[in-house]
Amino acid sequence: MNSKDEQEKLYPSGYEPKAGGNTDTNVRNQLLDQILKSSPTEFINTDLFTVMSKRRSTRKFTDKIVETVKIDKIIAAADTAPTAGNFQGFEIFYVKSPEKKQQLIEACNNQPYVNAPVVLIFCKNPSRVKMDFPEEILKKFAIQDATLAAAYSQLAAQALGLSSIWIGMFDEQKVMKVINTDLIPSSILCIGYPKQDKFPKPRRNLKEIVHAVW
Ligand SMILES: Cc1cc2nc3c(=O)[nH]c(=O)nc-3n(C[C@H](O)[C@H](O)[C@H](O)COP(=O)(O)O)c2cc1C
Repeated sequence: MNSKDEQEKLYPSGYEPKAGGNTDTNVRNQLLDQILKSSPTEFINTDLFTVMSKRRSTRKFTDKIVETVKIDKIIAAADTAPTAGNFQGFEIFYVKSPEKKQQLIEACNNQPYVNAPVVLIFCKNPSRVKMDFPEEILKKFAIQDATLAAAYSQLAAQALGLSSIWIGMFDEQKVMKVINTDLIPSSILCIGYPKQDKFPKPRRNLKEIVHAVW
C-alpha cells in the first residue's frame, strides 16, 4: 500500500490500528481463500438463505466421520467473520481426543452429545484486541468476536450437509482445564452428520422482534 492510500484511510475514533495490528488490507491469507474456494465434495445447496432456512440443531449424530475438507471449511468460515478492529480476538480449540471429549461432557453439565464427531471450542482472546479502550470494552469485543466466529462456523456446517449443537451451558474453569488454556471459552460447537433430518423450530413473529424507532 502506498503512503497516499495510507493517509486517506479512515478509522472510527478509537479504532486506529496500533503497531503490531493487522494493517495490511491488501493481502488476505492465501490458505484461507484456497480452503473457502475449494469445491464441496458433493452437491449441496449452499445458497445462504436456503442454509439459514434449513438449519436446525441436532443432539444425535451418526458415527460417520466428518471429512477433513469439510472441517477445514468450517474453521475457515469462522475466520471470515467480522471482528472488532479486525484483531480477531478469539481462538478455536479443535478437540480430537476421545478422552477429552468425555471430560467435556462433565464440564458441560453432563450433556452427553458433547461427545460429537467434531468439537470446536471458541475462546475469547481480548489480548489480541489492540485498541485504546478500557479492558471491559476489549473483553466485550472478544466475546462478540468469538460468538460471531462460532455462528459463521455453525452456518458453514449446515451448508456442508452437517448439523450442530451450540453449547453455552458449561463450567468455564472445567472446560479451560480440559483444553489446557487460560482463555475463557464462549461457546462450544458440536458438529456431525445428524441421525435424523428435522424441520427448523418455530420462531416469534418477526413483527414482535422488530421495534421501529423513529
Ligand atoms: C447462547 C446459546 C446457548 C446454548 N446452550 C445450549 C446448551 O448448553 N445445550 C444445548 O443442548 N443447546 C444449547 N443451545 C442450543 C439451543 O437450545 C437451540 O439453538 C435452540 O433451541 C433453537 O433451536 P435451533 O438451533 O434448532 O433453531 C444454545 C444456543 C445458544 C444460542
